[in-house]
Amino acid sequence: MNHLPASFLWGASTAPHQIEGNNINSDWWAREAMMPGMEPSGDAVDSYHRYREDMELLAHAGFNAYRFGIEWARIEPRPGQISRAELAHYRRMIDTALELGLEPVITLQHFTTPAWFAAEGGWLSDRAIDRFQSFVTTATQILGGVNWVATMNEPNMQAMTIMIQEAYQSGHLAEWQSPTVDGEAQRERIAANLPVPEPRIGHRMVELHHAVRDIVREHTDAKVGWTIANPALTPTPGNEDKLVEVRYAQEDLYLQGSRGDDWVGVQSYSSQQVDQNGIVPHPEHPDNTQTGAAYRPDALEMAVRHTWEVTKLPILVTENGIPTGDDDRRIAYTTEALRGMMAAIDDGADVRGYLHWSLLDNYEWGHWHPTFGLIAVDRETFERKPKPSLTWLGDIAHTNGASLTEALTS
Ligand code: BGC
Repeated sequence: MNHLPASFLWGASTAPHQIEGNNINSDWWAREAMMPGMEPSGDAVDSYHRYREDMELLAHAGFNAYRFGIEWARIEPRPGQISRAELAHYRRMIDTALELGLEPVITLQHFTTPAWFAAEGGWLSDRAIDRFQSFVTTATQILGGVNWVATMNEPNMQAMTIMIQEAYQSGHLAEWQSPTVDGEAQRERIAANLPVPEPRIGHRMVELHHAVRDIVREHTDAKVGWTIANPALTPTPGNEDKLVEVRYAQEDLYLQGSRGDDWVGVQSYSSQQVDQNGIVPHPEHPDNTQTGAAYRPDALEMAVRHTWEVTKLPILVTENGIPTGDDDRRIAYTTEALRGMMAAIDDGADVRGYLHWSLLDNYEWGHWHPTFGLIAVDRETFERKPKPSLTWLGDIAHTNGASLTEALTS
């Protein structure tokens, strides 16, 4: 097994809406209030005020990177109205990360947009490109010293959300479904006969990404990319052609949209099969995770290999993890996932870092029950309770993978 370069990033990831709390000007905040069955994000885990404590826990455990987002809805609560105070808030977060020796990996847009932007028609509206460009131009003012920027998180999941929204609005879906809670969303998707994201939406997402990529390059020294949900699809016997078709719409269109970027983010949790009808729902199994997804730690290796094959770009694993109430299982899953990542690196994949999802148990887009965190949070007192997995992964980070290699070879 090769040694990782000293510059290898070991960290954890979060997203603003899932941890900050009271993101009241965002489209998701409005959606939570309207949709039956959706739990509200509320105070989330109050990381808006407690980010220093969160970063200290990460840094003191041995990590050297933290991926977090800046929230458009806070920075631009009304069209063109920029909050200097919120920009200063996110600059303080970047400074805190740098002070603690954490490389900040910044996401400019992670699922949420301002409510006014959604009301204008969101990503598909005629004004979307101008609006996004204007926000990104503003955001770059605070990105000095940042080396890694992602324009958008999981454009392929966002395309899926647009389709769920369209189906809901046209009466084809009885209830809004969280895009990330697999079990429910998939059952509904199949019931409503929703296809994988339509390429028309995918091409639009690529257009948006390209429209802001050069703005980031022009105004910062950061390497720019975006982060993609990698479903690690495999064919059932005889369905190799169908796999290629489905994988294009679900993943490859977006990976191809990375061409010309400086890096690409791999985000992997599970794996699914493709049969003649498309993606096969996760079979019921006692090992399934809290979101109903199959326990598939091998998915990360598949995702890294496929991303490398399609893009040949430097890769950051920007999300990988498991929703479980059993922390031993988190450690077992992550051990296996890292083993696969190392194997892909040994075979030539240019992986520059591993950022676990997630630092904290957080708001999982409509639900609180899936717990992905290395740190639990008491939602009444906001007390942080690090789990053994934080120390365990922190040791791997601190030894730059050596403790993992020893564990795997002994
Ligand atoms: C998203 C996260 C989400 C995670 C787990 C990814 O789809 O980027 O926001 O919480 O997966 O479902």
